[in-house]
Amino acid sequence: MFVIMHLLTLKNWTPEQIEEVIDKSIEIKRKPDEYRTALKDKSLAMIFQKTSTRTRTSFEVAMTQLGGHAIYMDWRTTNLVLADIRDETKYLSRNVDCIMARLFKHADLKAMAEASGVPVINGCDEKYHPCQAISDLMTIKEKKGRLAELKLVYIGVHNNVCNSLIEGCTKVGMEIITVTPMVNESSLDEELLEKAKRTGLYKTTKDVKGAVEDCDIVYTDTWVDMEFFLDPKFKEEKEKRIKLMMPYQVNKELLKGSDALIMHDMPMHRGYEITGDVVESPNSIIYDQSENRLYSAKGILLKLSGKT
Ligand code: CP
Repeated sequence: MFVIMHLLTLKNWTPEQIEEVIDKSIEIKRKPDEYRTALKDKSLAMIFQKTSTRTRTSFEVAMTQLGGHAIYMDWRTTNLVLADIRDETKYLSRNVDCIMARLFKHADLKAMAEASGVPVINGCDEKYHPCQAISDLMTIKEKKGRLAELKLVYIGVHNNVCNSLIEGCTKVGMEIITVTPMVNESSLDEELLEKAKRTGLYKTTKDVKGAVEDCDIVYTDTWVDMEFFLDPKFKEEKEKRIKLMMPYQVNKELLKGSDALIMHDMPMHRGYEITGDVVESPNSIIYDQSENRLYSAKGILLKLSGKT
């Protein structure tokens, strides 16, 4: 039986598959001309229920540079707003070769994948952001030459990005310590955390200074998810979060004596989770990390289309 490979989370991906995509992404970045026609005549449907800069840009440019074509679909302007997600997906997968979707609910992505005759990529939902984690690991491997036996500290709200980082790091042998005094309830996945703990590579602490002391990478993310950032109904919660999270800001004082690389998946909020001087500091690899979304999108698309 032919099994379609999806990328909804990294749960069903083996360490070898993750490393293969990372290595392929690095190779594609080095030798882009060798992949100019790799997805010739192929089409990607990109469905967005939420805003995006990097995910949309990277996948659209990736398809163009691989010789294929991407279709941007704002959820609100499609008949997904009024029809069954499974029916619409069944149709879509008869016209396109791959679907990438950024949806509010992971359950909807699962429904899409079940109905689809082509690979489905999670472009970020409330629980996971696997494309970001692959790009992050690619960037770390590029900078450090390896992934195993490094130590990454994630400081911020426990969210979808944090979940996928935990999955990714523990699978490739990297230690990950989270400093997350707040949790986005909708992102909770106890099974993922339990599995990660069993590897011995994942721990959580409130001691932010101690965690940073001997780590290789400091990673932070927004304290407020994109769908709530400008929502007046979320104003009170946003203010509460800022007050609680400010002692965990990634700033020069926290990083004193550390030579850790600094990462952020963007969009950033300077002066909140990270200060501007740290964003612009020599150890910051934030813009390389965001640039690598393009090459890792290519690596993911090739892997799912069976071209690696
Ligand atoms: N990091 C990330 O996914 O960026 P966008 O939300 O802009 O796509």
